[in-house]
Amino acid sequence: MIGHQALTGGEKGIGTGLQNELFLQALRGETVPRPPVWMMRQAGRYLPEYQQLRARYDFFTRVQSPELAATITIQPVDRLGVDAAILFSDILVVPQAMGLVVEMNEGKGPLLPETIASMADVLKLEVEEAHLRLQYVYDAIRTTRAQLNGRVPLIGFAGAPWTIFCYMVEGKGSKTFEKAKAFCYEKPDVAHALLQSITLVTIAYLREQVKAGVNALQIFDSWGSVWDKHDYALYSMPYIRQIVQYLREEIPVIVFAKGVWHSLPELADTGAAALGLDWMNTPSEARRLTQNKITLQGNYDPIKLLQPVEKIKQDVAQMIGEFGKDRYIVNLGHGIVPHIPVSHAQAFVDAVKGWVEK
Ligand code: CP3
Repeated sequence: MIGHQALTGGEKGIGTGLQNELFLQALRGETVPRPPVWMMRQAGRYLPEYQQLRARYDFFTRVQSPELAATITIQPVDRLGVDAAILFSDILVVPQAMGLVVEMNEGKGPLLPETIASMADVLKLEVEEAHLRLQYVYDAIRTTRAQLNGRVPLIGFAGAPWTIFCYMVEGKGSKTFEKAKAFCYEKPDVAHALLQSITLVTIAYLREQVKAGVNALQIFDSWGSVWDKHDYALYSMPYIRQIVQYLREEIPVIVFAKGVWHSLPELADTGAAALGLDWMNTPSEARRLTQNKITLQGNYDPIKLLQPVEKIKQDVAQMIGEFGKDRYIVNLGHGIVPHIPVSHAQAFVDAVKGWVEK
């Protein structure tokens, strides 16, 4: 594979030798004894140790305190033995750094009281120096790398520009994001100006994450699902492609675009090292659509973790069988949800770690 020479992205002093490289090997397309496993939202409410910290500190205090963020990031590594850590943070720190207020109403989700409605609003946003306001993220990465002490790689992340746009225009979550879509139909020039500003900030932000020591990056396009193929190619794909093109020489980038099966072939051509998949289609169809040429990550329905442990184990074996052990990273098709028993999350991870080729 070309372009991923500087895989560790670490700086001198932190140490680049990792004890468990399975995840990075899979991203490089190397042959592995078994696929690596991690879970989206693995640092979260299903873990009692997370709930304890959640009771004492509000969401953005947890995100903005490097020590707390590092502790939460490492909780699932200690508890479940996953093969990668993902930094505890949120995609909405980017609109915050651009000057918007973001409130997190726990249990209900995010709220942005002032939304973007015009070119004047776009021009008021901080672009050039926004990444400098996220120093606490880079500090959290350095603290986490030091505390992980090389046990597993650390994943940094950001939202895809389209998904961030959704929150900046709509002000909150939505099933249809019709306000955000209407904005694109009615004021395409303003929409593209906003998407481009978000993209520039995201590139600068992710570069700093790499300098601070993350080993891989993931782009979350959770709301890519609201577009058809034609409009996805206009409003989301080009901005994801820009981000990947700027970063791919430095670090492997995973693109998780939920509900975007129609554009998997095009996403595979963005230069991403891997694509994340939701559970709405089969592993073999994903391999077919990407012509077997890219690492795939996913795609277990997180709610299926409510099934009996024995069934989870069978499902995992079947999923690995269908994706194949190489160029594959076992994960869920979206984030784990709060009511999943920890023992079931553990069964998922253990089934991968105990997997043997037949
Ligand atoms: O995956 C991880 O463990 C790393 C941390 C992480 C969080 N958010 C922590 C979090 C990551 C990668 C995210 C990404 C994120 N944030 C996305 C993209 C991925 C996805 O799930 O689609 C989105 C859309 C957001 C925005 C966001 N943050 C929403 C919609 C919510 C509320 C929904 C919810 O689960 O409560 C959040 C809050 C949030 N971010 C929590 C966590 C652990 C829950 C906060 C709590 O403890 O109550």
